[in-house]
Amino acid sequence: MSDLLSELSSEPTSALSTELRFVSGNSQNINGSVRVPGDKSISHRSVILSALADGVSSIEGLLEGEDVLATLAAFRAMGVHAEGPIDGKLTVYGVGMQGLSPPESALNMGNSGTAMRLMSGLLAGQPFSSVLIGDQSLSKRPMGRIMLPLKLMQANCKAGGDGTPPIEIHASDRLIGIHYDLPVASAQVKSAILLAGMYANGTTSVVEPAATRDHTERMLNAYGYACSTEQGVISLAGGGKLHAQDVSIPADISSASFFMVLASIVPDAKILLQHVGVNSTRVGVINILRLMGADIELLNQGEAGGESVADIQVRYKGLTAIDVPPEQVPLAIDEFPVLCVAAACAAGVTRIRGAEELRHKESDRISAMIEGLRAIGVEVEEYPDGMDIKGGDISGGQVDSQLDHRIAMAFAVAGAVASSPVTITRCENVATSFPNFVDLANQVGMQLSSKQSSLESCA
Ligand code: S3P
Repeated sequence: MSDLLSELSSEPTSALSTELRFVSGNSQNINGSVRVPGDKSISHRSVILSALADGVSSIEGLLEGEDVLATLAAFRAMGVHAEGPIDGKLTVYGVGMQGLSPPESALNMGNSGTAMRLMSGLLAGQPFSSVLIGDQSLSKRPMGRIMLPLKLMQANCKAGGDGTPPIEIHASDRLIGIHYDLPVASAQVKSAILLAGMYANGTTSVVEPAATRDHTERMLNAYGYACSTEQGVISLAGGGKLHAQDVSIPADISSASFFMVLASIVPDAKILLQHVGVNSTRVGVINILRLMGADIELLNQGEAGGESVADIQVRYKGLTAIDVPPEQVPLAIDEFPVLCVAAACAAGVTRIRGAEELRHKESDRISAMIEGLRAIGVEVEEYPDGMDIKGGDISGGQVDSQLDHRIAMAFAVAGAVASSPVTITRCENVATSFPNFVDLANQVGMQLSSKQSSLESCA
């Protein structure tokens, strides 16, 4: 363990890093049909469950973004053999529930809160020690929310003094199942507890204050590990097994949402988004845009890999401001940056409240959006748990993405309706969730360029 930790405290050195900048110009011809990359949440879970399963799993439609690759690298470091990913196809040779080997160094989760929180739950049940680290953004994110329930399960784990990474986990005697009422609506916390629960004596159960994405529950059942949801109580018994599966991952509605808003705000636009996951715990963005008057149709509705899928057709229609219903907030939690851009184009004042969780994402998304919207001429007012956005003209200007992929892509969409270009700085983390965003954006008619420049920095 001391070896794992010692590598975290190396001397600062000077290094050449690069900055990626987007410039997004007014775009009047938005049209096309695209398939955005695979769902990030399902991709992480498919790697995790396949690695722990008995047998060989074949995954298609995997998101080859940096976040999911971090999860995959962690399992490779613990002795799991996997071939790919190539064109979204990954073959994972599962090692079984007890088959992971101790990692030789700290596991780097990069920018991914999902990877860090889900892996913490899983690693809490292993008979070896591990350390989880992350990048600058992840290193500031709250981990107390998973440390607390994991400790109640008798896990031997700790985060840094202020509850942030790195996370240090040691082998403990067998975990014990708990019942836990989640204080925040968080699928990551719920999933961490359920993954630890697989290694616990007895039953582990969780109740959410509001429904959050249920991919973990669905996928556990698909891999043959019974996980029930009855009257809001989600539970599983420890000591079960996972069986290898063939998994087909739909396109990510969170990535599709940038194009949904784009098509809603550019006059005469029409975009078809192919084979998107429309799980009812993820469709807040569709519900909210429809309440604002958007023209969104779901076509070819069906099922793939235990998830609802559909082609989403969006046509331009002038939007109207709304008070965002609080119950939609957890169902659209990742889509707020681009929903703020929709609000900036809607007639009237849109009010967002009950969204304090946005402050704990890859950036403080309330303050990042407030700052960015003001920089491009939009009138906004900040609240602790949301904001008011006055719809009107967008003038253009320079915005800092705060190294947050979704802030970067949201302001790229804003550029399409701005009177002069929107320049977005520090966009390199777009590769965490949507590596081909710039290509697809240009394919549907956006005027979006990206430029890499070198910066001398202290590492
Ligand atoms: C995710 C859950 C959400 C979401 C994140 C992915 C998941 O986070 O914001 O991008 O895959 O479980 P919280 O559970 O912290 O709200």
